[in-house]
Amino acid sequence: MKKNNSIDRTALMPNYAPPWFTPVKGDKSVVWDENGKDYIDFGGGIAVTCLGHAHPELNQALKTQADSLWHVSNYLLNQPAVDLTDALAKKTFAEKIFLSNSGNEANEAAMKLARRFYFDQGKKDKYEIISFSDSFHGRSMMNITVGDSEFHQTGFGPLLEGFKKAQFNDLDSVKKIINKNTAAIMVEPIQGESGVIPAKNPFLEGLRKLADENDCLLIFDEVQSGIGRTGSLLAYMGYGVVPDILTVAKGMGGGMPVAATLTTEKIAECFQPGTHGSTFGGNPLSCAVASKVIEIVSKQKLLTGVVEKTTLFLKHLSALSEEFDLFDDVRSAGLWIGCDFKKIKAGEFLEACYEEGLIIVQASGQSTIRLAPSLIIGDSEINEGFNRFRKALQNLV
Ligand SMILES: Cc1ncc(COP(=O)(O)O)c(C=O)c1O
Repeated sequence: MKKNNSIDRTALMPNYAPPWFTPVKGDKSVVWDENGKDYIDFGGGIAVTCLGHAHPELNQALKTQADSLWHVSNYLLNQPAVDLTDALAKKTFAEKIFLSNSGNEANEAAMKLARRFYFDQGKKDKYEIISFSDSFHGRSMMNITVGDSEFHQTGFGPLLEGFKKAQFNDLDSVKKIINKNTAAIMVEPIQGESGVIPAKNPFLEGLRKLADENDCLLIFDEVQSGIGRTGSLLAYMGYGVVPDILTVAKGMGGGMPVAATLTTEKIAECFQPGTHGSTFGGNPLSCAVASKVIEIVSKQKLLTGVVEKTTLFLKHLSALSEEFDLFDDVRSAGLWIGCDFKKIKAGEFLEACYEEGLIIVQASGQSTIRLAPSLIIGDSEINEGFNRFRKALQNLV
């Protein structure tokens, strides 16, 4: 079944390993390849296309903005950026927001903000950042340092100074290393790359308390968990634990590159003109689409639908697990599901799914897959996707 990796035919660097087909068109939760074959999309471009493909209101927002203004730089204000930050401030704890283009950039800004916040108070040694086992925060030097993947770090050293690791969901491990030089604790409320692993509520509550007691900032990386994926606009709302800084990207643009670093007025004060920036951050095209995404995803009916659709996904997964003795564990945080296979290799299953016309995503573990479909995927698309899921299994077991 294994076919040639399509990237060998291109001038793209070999740091990705896409399969043999090339998607050329998408509509709702279906994409078509260059030969007209259709695929049900259970991956959502890794939790990005939260309203599916070619959503008419997003298309319209993009076209309208494309006809008026593309770029002016951050020397000047642009209305879509103002509208987007207003919308985010209205719906979240945030009072001030920095706009950028990717989760990576949003996290860099978050950590720089924490360090600069204490630097400006004359606390020049207060720059340490605590992060967690199995975390993922992006691929810049700062983000591979704060993340916990030896594989991502290998060959790119030296890493940066001032980072410490604690165990995810283990408060005592944080208590052992937090000290007067800690500037921030950075955590994914639900770890995505490692397979949709939720933090326990008392753990996040405990981190909030520890941050307050030790005068340091709590940063939530909601790059993957944000924008409706878990059934609330942001996952922190479901937990009832409010961070000092929060990052969001992926789903916020529904497929357009846009990201945000959210914080309070007091903390944002340290980002005075010139301290930080991004040429394309706040780009009018991306912001116009992102505002529309937030308007649509915030609707209660859509968020309730996420919970209902999750039930249908879990029902299918449970039936398949029983029939094929399939999974060791299935975890869900809304329409974001991690499944650990007992025997099957995730990579082989992905290929079998492609053959049957289904797109899913692998997690960092060799036997874990992730599902992160459109939040408005239809029941018929879900049922057909699982028909294909089942056929892919039959080809493997
Ligand atoms: C939790 C988390 N943080 C940060 C990132 C990096 O985001 P980007 O790839 O947009 O730079 C990701 C990407 O998967 C992520 O899942």
